[in-house]
Amino acid sequence: MKSDHITFHTPLIDRASRARQNGHASAIIWLTGLSGAGKSTLAHALEHELHSTGHRTYVLDGDNVRHGLCGDLGFSRKDREENIRRIGEVAKLMMDAGLIVIAAFISPHQADRDRVRTSVASGEFIEVFCGCELETCIARDPKGLYKLALSGQINDFTGISSPYEIPLQPELALDTARQDIASCTNAVLSLLRARGLLIT
Ligand code: ADX
Repeated sequence: MKSDHITFHTPLIDRASRARQNGHASAIIWLTGLSGAGKSTLAHALEHELHSTGHRTYVLDGDNVRHGLCGDLGFSRKDREENIRRIGEVAKLMMDAGLIVIAAFISPHQADRDRVRTSVASGEFIEVFCGCELETCIARDPKGLYKLALSGQINDFTGISSPYEIPLQPELALDTARQDIASCTNAVLSLLRARGLLIT
């Protein structure tokens, strides 16, 4: 922290009151995986299910956040670290506001993901690995970025010229190459239900 002389003001409405009003607890569901692995598709399908069953939600998505909050960041190791740090802070605020936050970011470094995990209470950070082989992501290439990265027109591209560290102990590992979106969504919902996070 850079600034001195700052005092934390305890709010009158706390997280427990918000949870009571909402009828469910809040948490951060963190989707990680290569570009093209299906993180955004899953995030929005999951949000749709949760929203239509009365849960308060918000999706934080890599490409969207990089248009605003993180518009000044690129894809160097340092910038990705800062990207994930900022998103972690925003996700925590949203969790405090009572939302089920669905964060969809490549977040290629275990240390960056762990930093968010350890900054919240145990059980509040749910890491979901969207596992899809690089070859499949290249074949899908939804944004045409792999083509550009493979021909050297984008530097530091995850999976091509920048590393991706597979989660060591995710709460859930999906095979997004073979499982369809409904099956992936249901797997996450089952996990959330088992953890008592959903309205029953
Ligand atoms: S992260 O690595 O810092 O977590 P983030 O999820 O925010 O990445 O952004 C990833 C998105 O940015 C990709 O889905 C892709 O559309 C776009 N992108 C542009 N350049 C790159 C790059 N060099 N590496 C990865 N993704 C990139």
